[in-house]
Amino acid sequence: MAEPIVSLLNPEFEEDPIGAFARLRETAPLVRIGFPGGPPVWLITRSEEFKEAWSDPRLVTNIGNVPGHRGPSIADQALMSLDVPKELLRYFTSNLMLQDGAEHARLRRLVAPAFSVRRIKALRPRIEEVSTRLLDAFAEKGSGDLLREYATPLTGAVICDLVGIDEPDQPQIRQWMDEYANIDADFTTSALGLFDYTKQLIERRRAEPADDMISTLVHTTDKNGDRLTEDEIISMVGVLVNGGYHSTAHFIPNAVLTLLENPDQLALLRARPEALPHAINELMRIANPIPSAGPRYAAEDMELAGVSICKGDAVTGSLQSVNYDSRVFADPERCNVERELKRGEGHLAFGAGPHRCIGAALAELEGEVAIDHLFLRRETLELAVNSSELRYREVIPGGARLFNRFPVRL
Ligand code: HEM
Repeated sequence: MAEPIVSLLNPEFEEDPIGAFARLRETAPLVRIGFPGGPPVWLITRSEEFKEAWSDPRLVTNIGNVPGHRGPSIADQALMSLDVPKELLRYFTSNLMLQDGAEHARLRRLVAPAFSVRRIKALRPRIEEVSTRLLDAFAEKGSGDLLREYATPLTGAVICDLVGIDEPDQPQIRQWMDEYANIDADFTTSALGLFDYTKQLIERRRAEPADDMISTLVHTTDKNGDRLTEDEIISMVGVLVNGGYHSTAHFIPNAVLTLLENPDQLALLRARPEALPHAINELMRIANPIPSAGPRYAAEDMELAGVSICKGDAVTGSLQSVNYDSRVFADPERCNVERELKRGEGHLAFGAGPHRCIGAALAELEGEVAIDHLFLRRETLELAVNSSELRYREVIPGGARLFNRFPVRL
């Protein structure tokens, strides 16, 4: 019998996503969902099954690794709908998110030094400095949009610094990144701007290295003498800048709202600020802005979570659903910043397996500094509108929690 197809456009997913996913999760660990104009996709709803699937090499991110498969992947379809010129396509399709196995491991190994614990830790003073400057300006005005006037300039400056984008060029880069994520803006012009800029930056750092990621990527060879090509660096910068900017920027207002809605948890953090690094995990679980992991494709006929799926079938996982799975999180709807979990268990906001977010430690550090500066070093942050007036952007159906604006008073 054919599986029933669930539509995430169903109003219940907009009105009460947590409840709607809870009902779906109790129906089955794997359900079929449908998007307008596309074939059905399998959606994983439970934590354990998601972790297993995301570590299973038979599920690939590059549709070209499905033997005999013809036709575009979901990413190809998105690029076609954006009219991206052919000569730019390689920058989108050669990034590490879309590679599997040895090729993915190679790219990840070459970029990993830029995300070493030492490098991320060393960013703390700069993150604190930018945050303080932005909040001082904000406090002087008294009120404004926390997303545009604090969270995006903060995460934008941090990712630009990490990559090595010179400070005077950062406003232009941020403008391209904003346009890149705005469905009404010209995607190709902003992508082209970022790619051309990166090409020039590579030349500059090749001639004169600095202590930044571009220089590391240009000059680092692994123990086999392998290094990234220019195209691969451009593609890598595109994915890092976009991955590192929007997700973390939107996490901050989501986490702020979570704490405002849970004053007992905020009071607990104010009383014990040293609990903040641990609390970030609970905030990531609840306030993660990203609804689902990127699609995978079955490289062969296989069984997944007890269900037979066919070669070429697309599979994704609802991060919102798995992060509220009561099999892992007791009383999942409750925010509990002191939540203790068993070893090996935790939220999956950063995904799992070989593609687990490479920027997780950086995102946590930025979140920690933001919550510290917004709530623990001041006492007066409050919403400037009724919470029912806050609106999410309509990007992807099924739970993307990206606010349009987030007005607050300091
Ligand atoms: C709150 C902030 C963030 C969230 C929720 C988040 C979430 C995720 C998730 C769910 C994945 C895995 C997707 C999948 O399996 O299909 C991922 C991968 C990735 N993220 Fe993040 N991310 C965040 C911040 C960052 C930052 C700060 C950076 C870079 C500086 C970054 C760069 C990347 C990259 C490059 C990948 C691909 C890794 C690979 O394919 O090996 N992310 N992220």
